[in-house]
Amino acid sequence: MIDLHNHVLPGVDDGAYDLEMALRMLDIAAGQGITHVACTPHGHDRMNEETDRLYQSVFLELQKAVEELGIPVQLALGTEIMLGVELLRVLHLPCATYHGAGKYFLLEFPIETPFEIILNVTTTAHRANRRPVLAHFERFARAMRTKEYVKKIREAGAVISLDAGSLVGQFGAVIEKRARQLLEWDVVDLLASDAHNDAVHGFRLKEGYDAAVKILGEEKALKLVNDHPRRVWEGLPWTT
Ligand SMILES: [Fe+2]
Repeated sequence: MIDLHNHVLPGVDDGAYDLEMALRMLDIAAGQGITHVACTPHGHDRMNEETDRLYQSVFLELQKAVEELGIPVQLALGTEIMLGVELLRVLHLPCATYHGAGKYFLLEFPIETPFEIILNVTTTAHRANRRPVLAHFERFARAMRTKEYVKKIREAGAVISLDAGSLVGQFGAVIEKRARQLLEWDVVDLLASDAHNDAVHGFRLKEGYDAAVKILGEEKALKLVNDHPRRVWEGLPWTT
């Protein structure tokens, strides 16, 4: 499995608070069958070169420690960018897109963001040859009032992701219901852990996958944790 959203990079946001915790988290991830982990610390539209240098240097430290310990996961760097007016300006930073490849990036919105804004931002990013992976789409009630809304956002160029834990009640019954609804509508492209620590808010991709199998069947569920995230990881063209 490939995880494209987590806060395992230590000491830079509200995720892993030190290297030891990050390594414990990655050990848990490997135990679930996760082979690729893209670290996505929080970022915003005021990120700059200094942020990039910080994330890159902590990332190299983590990568070195993982190699030394022989934890069988490959790492990459990205950022979970909170929407702001300067979004397009910061996308040139190497840490802003997965692998610094300038193509796919992880984007989050404030919870009350209306459908129209998510659609407009997706369209704008896509016109600028960037493809947003929308983090935890199940949180955006106003953007999933109907299946048609979600389809329009996807058609505009977004990759729709869910937090795997949402499918197993990690964020409460309302979010679980919405996450399941999105899967039933067949409008979800991938699952991600959004892991923040080595406890209850940890890597729970396998649990989410198991829940998805019950709704979609094994073949479709596998695409959400393997095939589709691999396209983002490798920077391949997106097809829906
Ligand atoms: Fe996150």
